[in-house]
Formats: sequence, structure tokens, C-alpha cells
Amino acid sequence: MEQLQGRDLLSIADLNAQELGMLLKVSQQLKSGELKPRCDKTLGLLFTKASTRTRVSFTVAMYQLGGNVIDLNPNVTQVGRGEPLEDTARVLSRYLDALAIRTFAQKDIETFAEFAEIPVINALTDLEHPCQILADLMTIQECFGSLGGLTITYLGDGNNVAHSLLLGGALAGVNVHVATPPNYQPDPQIVDQAKSLAQNKSQILITNDAIAAVEGAQVIYTDVWASMGQEDLADSRVPIFQPYQVNDSLIEHADKEAIVLHCLPAHRGEEITNEVIEGQRSRVWQQAENRMHAQKALLVSLFAENS
Ligand code: CP
Ligand code: NVA
Repeated sequence: MEQLQGRDLLSIADLNAQELGMLLKVSQQLKSGELKPRCDKTLGLLFTKASTRTRVSFTVAMYQLGGNVIDLNPNVTQVGRGEPLEDTARVLSRYLDALAIRTFAQKDIETFAEFAEIPVINALTDLEHPCQILADLMTIQECFGSLGGLTITYLGDGNNVAHSLLLGGALAGVNVHVATPPNYQPDPQIVDQAKSLAQNKSQILITNDAIAAVEGAQVIYTDVWASMGQEDLADSRVPIFQPYQVNDSLIEHADKEAIVLHCLPAHRGEEITNEVIEGQRSRVWQQAENRMHAQKALLVSLFAENS
């Protein structure tokens, strides 16, 4: 198995296509029980935003590997009282083997990574959610057998999940269509980066036309219209985002075999209807389970020497 020993994962684009493929393969081997690695390591979770899936899946993955997890809630550490990130990173490196951080600014995890001597994992920032996309690609591969040639259509806000999907999809050689309201498009720098990663192998389409984006897609993906930290904008966004709701009539434009993904938590009746998330195309519970397998593959790979 090729390794990512000691590396950081701040963006899904920190991986190359081969490394991404390796992680997806190991994720499946871990899920099937073909691989049963052990690693006596300690992971710190430093989360300044709420989390159910990421927190629990990282914790259980570490326990299943025979390792430990420390919850570094900023409210009970000196982080919450303003100790510099540079100092915290150097101190935590003396105790921990890796650190997963969920916070607002991408710059903050970059600072941590610069000063830490251990792998730093982006467990969600305002810019990206790379661990989510590992599980998403794993789920799509499980459902369709392979990734090449598929089209993923993301509808809604051009947010952290959309960014990582653009980059991860481009790396994996899938077409990524993103349909958002005007003024809510993904970061143009990320779009350019995705286009450059996709080269001529897959298509990156950014549009305001939900129906055109969904046409022929095998995977329909959505996320909340207002992310953590934007709660006060949620109500005003509802009418703006309504044309991008994942509902039965929109899905009629997709491939006959299309599946529906959502990173969760979901707001039924907003970005997705109850009928769709509970319907036969939905793979959201499988997708949520795969967070654990994909992150376990990542951890094993980062801890390679003792795995
Ligand atoms: N999808 C996801 O990251 O969920 P949590 O916010 O519950 O971790
Ligand atoms: N875009 C969402 C994802 C939550 C997992 C947020 O940042 O809140």
C-alpha cells in the first residue's frame, strides 16, 4: 500500500489522482474487512463548529484501529482564550500523532499545518470539506462500480462542499456540474483549479440553470443553503435558492439510474424534499457510514509506519 505518511490534508487537491484512487481502494478494503490494520496512535479533534458525523466517525475509526482520540473543545482548552495557533500547534505536536481541525478560516488550518510537526486534517473549513468528498467518491464508486465518465451535479450554495466536490471530482475524472443562484457561485479560484485538474479528461460546468446542470447526471448532490456561521442569512436565502431544490420534478431530468447524495445535516423542505431524501434514489445513509471507512483509510495512510 502506498502511504501518505506525515502529510497534511488541508484540501482534497493535496492528493494527486493516484493517491485519491489508493485511498478509495483502501476505504473499500477496510469496509469489507479485507484489511484490518492496527495503529497505536492518538488523534486530537479541535472543532470550533458543531459536528455529528465527522466527530463520531473519526472517533470510532480511531477506536477500531486501536488508537485514541482527545476532544480538544476550544471552550476547555486555552485555544478558546486566544492562545496563538502557532504555539498551540507546536505544543500539541509533542503529544498527538495527528490533529483534525474544524473551523472557519482556511488560513487558520494552514497556520496550524505550518507550525505543527504532525499531520493536520481539514475536518471542514469555510473553504473546503475534503474528508466528506472522500466518502462521497467512495459511495459513488460503490453504486456505479467505477467513477470515470460519470456526471455529478451539485445544486445550491457554492460552498465548502461544492469546492471540495469540484476539486475531488476533477481529480477522479468525473464531470462536475454546479448550479447555484447568481452571486452564490463557487470561488472562481477553486473553479480554475478544478478545470486545470480536470484537463481535458472531464467537464467542469458552472451555471445558474438547475435543469441544464442535472441533464443526464448520475449523481445529484445538495447541501444546506446556509452553512454554519451563516444562520442569520438562512431565511432570506430560501426564495433565492428555491429553483435549486432537489425534488422529484428536477430529478426527472437526470439519468434514469441517478442517485441522490447529501452530506447532511439536511433541511427537508429546503434544499431537498422529504420524498427525495427518504426515496429509493437516496444513498445518504450509506454515504454517512462511508465517512468512517474513508477517514480510517486516511488515518492508516497518514500513520503508515506503524499500520
Ligand atoms: N457532513 C458532515 O460533516 O456532518 P457533521 O457536520 O455532522 O460532521
Ligand atoms: N456546508 C455545510 C456543511 C456541513 C457538513 C456547513 O459548512 O455548514
